[in-house]
Amino acid sequence: MTKADRARIVFLADDYAGYESRGLLGQHGISVFIEVEKNGKKSHILFDTAQYAEGVIHNANILGIDLKNIGVIVLSHNHYDHTGGLYGIIKHINRRIPVVAHPDIFKPSISIGEDNVRLNIGVPESREKLEAAGANFILTRSPLEVAPGVYFLGEIPREWPHLSPGLEGNYTIENGELVKHELRDDTGIAIVVDGFGAIVIGGCSHSGIANIVKHAESVVKETPMVVMGGFHMISAPQDLISETIEKFKELGVREVHAGHCTGLRAEYLFMEEYGSNFKLLHSGHLTVY
Ligand SMILES: [Fe+2]
Ligand SMILES: [Fe+2]
Repeated sequence: MTKADRARIVFLADDYAGYESRGLLGQHGISVFIEVEKNGKKSHILFDTAQYAEGVIHNANILGIDLKNIGVIVLSHNHYDHTGGLYGIIKHINRRIPVVAHPDIFKPSISIGEDNVRLNIGVPESREKLEAAGANFILTRSPLEVAPGVYFLGEIPREWPHLSPGLEGNYTIENGELVKHELRDDTGIAIVVDGFGAIVIGGCSHSGIANIVKHAESVVKETPMVVMGGFHMISAPQDLISETIEKFKELGVREVHAGHCTGLRAEYLFMEEYGSNFKLLHSGHLTVY
């Protein structure tokens, strides 16, 4: 199991632009720039692309991050607020680049709410258009090391299925029939830093953030010291949030950095539990391990 010597993690997009953010833009979505160093050599990974490339590129410029150095893009799942920026970012990078995701990433993705139907909440562009722009898709259900110490987690076993709170209203088409979309493509990334442990990042965490963290631990065989991302508990009842917090404690999670679709109630409950080891995500949120 390869470990990085050092990792720098910068949120290039979150729903919250941040306090004293000096020109950074917020947008509904997530995009995370990850820099790892191993034996003096740096590798750069982009986890998710938010929905607008313009906002991600704008924030990267302000933060002094050159997206052209990115060696691989990893997608957490199909939803537009994670994949909508992909086309524009690949055009900006302007060369062929591997894009790692689950094989269901291009499945039709339909949202049906109480009084609202949206026929495409998945990847806005076709696979062909993205490939013509430079994407080289590597679609796998298996975990995959995408850079030294950085692991795409692959399909997440739903050990605690009731802790996958964000599936309602999601539909897909299978064999010509409208069926519930279980979002099996929803996954995360883990970064292992030598002498520290693992940092686990979820995009929307439709698989359940506790399931993602549990799977990350079994893939990288390290304590998940830090968990970041959107936890999609925006409409989760308090007992499910509390149970997720208990799982985090059992798994050894020491720091929680949550935002995007986590929801105010979950953010508050995590903050109550973790105190100063809870951070609210925002565009420009930067940590070094
Ligand atoms: Fe999301
Ligand atoms: Fe989502």
